[in-house]
Order: sequence, then C-alpha cells, then structure tokens
Amino acid sequence: MSFREIRPGVYYVGVRDWDRRLFDELIPLPDGTSYNSYLIRGSEKTALIDTVDPTKGDELLSNLRRLGVDEIDYVVSNHAEQDHSGALPEVLECYPEAKVVTNARCGEMLRELLLISEDRFLTVGDGETLPLGGKTLEFILAPWVHWPETMLTYLREDRVLFPCDLFGSHLATSELYAVDEARVYEAAKRYYAEIMMPFRNLIKRHLERIGALEIGLIAPSHGPLHDRPDFILEAYRDWVSDEVKNEVVIAYVSMHGSTRRMVEHLVKALMERGVAVKPFNLTVTDLGDLAMALVDASTLVLASPTVLSGLHPSAVYAAYLVNALRPKLRFVSVIGSYGWGGRMLEQIKGLLSSLKVELLDPVIVRGRPKEDDLRALEELGNEILNRHVELGIVEG
Ligand code: FEO
Repeated sequence: MSFREIRPGVYYVGVRDWDRRLFDELIPLPDGTSYNSYLIRGSEKTALIDTVDPTKGDELLSNLRRLGVDEIDYVVSNHAEQDHSGALPEVLECYPEAKVVTNARCGEMLRELLLISEDRFLTVGDGETLPLGGKTLEFILAPWVHWPETMLTYLREDRVLFPCDLFGSHLATSELYAVDEARVYEAAKRYYAEIMMPFRNLIKRHLERIGALEIGLIAPSHGPLHDRPDFILEAYRDWVSDEVKNEVVIAYVSMHGSTRRMVEHLVKALMERGVAVKPFNLTVTDLGDLAMALVDASTLVLASPTVLSGLHPSAVYAAYLVNALRPKLRFVSVIGSYGWGGRMLEQIKGLLSSLKVELLDPVIVRGRPKEDDLRALEELGNEILNRHVELGIVEG
C-alpha cells in the first residue's frame, strides 16, 4: 500500500513492518507493526503528521512521491520517539522548506535525539491551531502517553484525531481500518498493557478531554485506524478505570517440580472457588501476554523456587516488569519452595515497591509440598476469594 485517501485531501502514507518481532529489544511483536504517517492537503498548505521508523524512511518518501507531493510546509511531530521521528531528518532533507511543528518539550528532544537545527522548528502550545486552508489543525498537549512530550493533533473540519501512540496497536494487517475488531481489541490491549498502563491515571484525564471532541475517525500511528471511534474509546475507558476483575495471574517458574506442584494445586483451588486464574510459565511465556492479563487482574501470585537465597532470576525479571508496568492489582502473594533457606519474601517486597497492594500470607515450603502445604495453598485460595468478595467482584 503506497497511499490511501481516508478523508478528502487526507491520505494514509505510512508503512507496514510485517517482520519486526521485537520493539525496544524488549516487547514481543507477534503480529509485526506499522508506522502510520498521514498527509493533509489544505488549499494553501500541506502538512505531514509524523514520519516513520528510520528503517522505513525510503518507503515513506516513495509513498509521498507516488502521491505527487512536491512540497511540504509542515511536518507535525506528535512524539519524539524514533519509530515516528526517526525518518524526520530524511524528510526534512527532501523537503527543505518544511518546518517541524511541535511543542517546546518535543522540539528540545528532537534537537537532542536527531540533531535537527533550531531554525527548522515552529513551536506550538496547548490548544493552538494551524490553518492549512479549509483545514485546521488543533494541537492538544497530552504528556505521558507515554513520553513527557507527547501531543495529539485534531483535524477539526474532518473530525479526525491523530493521537500517535495512544489507541495504537502493534499489528500489521492488509486492512487499513479495524475490520476484525476482536483481533484489533487483543492487539490494542496488549499495546496498552506494554506501553500505556504505567500512565493509566494520566490517560484517564486525557480521555475526558478527548471525550469533548467530535471524532469521526481515530488515526493512530501504529496499527489499524478506528472508523468506529467508540470501539477503542470504550475499551480504553475500561482499561484505565479503577475496576478490577475476579482474576488471578500466577507468574511462575519451577526448577525441580515442587513449585510447579504448588501452582497446579493453587490453580485447581481457585477454579473450584469460582475465581478465574491465568498461569504463566515464565520460562516460555510471551511477556506481552502476561502484561495483558495484568490489565484486569485483582491478584498476582508470584511463584518461584529459591536460587542463591532469593527468587529465581526469571521471577525477579517478572517482578521488575510488573513493578514498572504498575497494573491496578489489589493483592499479591508469593508461593514457592526452598532447599535450605532464603529471603524471597523480603526480596519481593522490595521489587514491588511501586505497587499499592496488600501482601497476602505467602506459602513458602521446604522441598516438595506436603499435605499441610497443600492445605495452606487451599487457605490462600480461600483468602483470595474472600478478598475478591469484599471488593464486590464476585458473588459471596
Ligand atoms: Fe510508537 Fe512511543 O512510539
């Protein structure tokens, strides 16, 4: 796809990255991704909304050539991260008359990250507008979705919102729009969990402001476009809400089978009590799936054997990520085994210091779990159920 007209005079000129499997050398991309860029032709001025990853700059320029774009007056930069700004130097070289339109903080970052000279910038503030001739861009500063400099651009006349990463998904599809909503929902939830969840409370505020706009189309910078905006807006309202579900996530690793037996027993106990449970074996799990499960879960159980007096390194890594992602969990517990001793509990308290959670009684046993240990796990199941009942998310 080289370009597509999405509204009169508004074109999709982005690129697909079908084969990319890792983002930031951290985030799995099972479905590839796209870097969406848009060209807007007013009667007087032409603007490009965001660029693409630097590896795809030639494709973006080719799309613009095919569209017959000889001049660009403005390149709006909603976000300085390189998957959207990385091709900016190439675009500015091809279109030497173009000014980079962005806010002060983003401009400062682009100068540092990409060495773009100061005279190329046109700085805009929150609520400012830029007329293109029959089309007006309005800029909405929305810090921390997911960097501090992020902003959204709203095309008033066509009621199109360009929110950059917000409402996006790492999903490469041949369809331009979110046709398969179930698939897009999964990808968007995964994206939210991995990228946006730590900023849940700020996004909640941004959503209130976005709610006041008349929006006919949401055109994010990754994944399909939303021509039914309520679909993604409602999903986001649910994800950022304070509501949790009757769900337990168990992130576990086991070396010789003792911790695995404990996990299996707890899973069964929770199921018998009507509590939904999602176990993740940390040696093979896709961390995006784990992050996605944490969007709604009330309780996390971290299960680990003791290695060198502490948690297994895979459990340490998982705990570090959970702490960084700051899901709306209410309860955490630890289960696991040891051979001769250890300090797993103290360690986990330190690792999860950013979470406002109540620590439920742990079940840490020596060697293979015995009858008493299995009963302790059933007690933990009871405790979790009781806490969920107190939250009002399960029938008592
Ligand atoms: Fe898609 Fe934050 O960059």
